[in-house]
Amino acid sequence: LSTIRVDVSGVAPGTQLTVKWLGKPVFIRHRTEDEIAEAQQQEEAFAAGQNVVDTNARNANLADSAAPATDANRTLPSPEGQPAQAWLVQMGVCTHLGCVPLGNAGDFGGWFCPCHGSHYDLAGRIRKGPAPENLPVPPAEWVDDSTILLG
Ligand code: FES
Repeated sequence: LSTIRVDVSGVAPGTQLTVKWLGKPVFIRHRTEDEIAEAQQQEEAFAAGQNVVDTNARNANLADSAAPATDANRTLPSPEGQPAQAWLVQMGVCTHLGCVPLGNAGDFGGWFCPCHGSHYDLAGRIRKGPAPENLPVPPAEWVDDSTILLG
């Protein structure tokens, strides 16, 4: 199947679900309010040019393939009644040589790839290390308030 439905009702804020889509891991991260706030701070540092590697959102859901890598452009629009930028859906495949990054790790508190030391921030942007691109955001949308359609 090229599309899958993922029930995220059990994904509490502060946790991440990993599912397989097209044979690859996809990370579905539900951010806490603190993580959303911290992501905003990281965004400011990114906008100021600190540890910037890739400025492209790499989000398959955006019509503009050149859209900038802002936090809003990286996250999935939240369902009605939930905080904005609470959900991040991205491929769990390091853009260096394809290892699976570890969550809640690295210098930016996002993901860390142990293979050669790539550090991704809370929006999945590469901030340090050999990986050349941000973690790609696959086609994703809400089917209802607790189900995400991938693909
Ligand atoms: Fe991730 Fe090399 S594969 S840093």
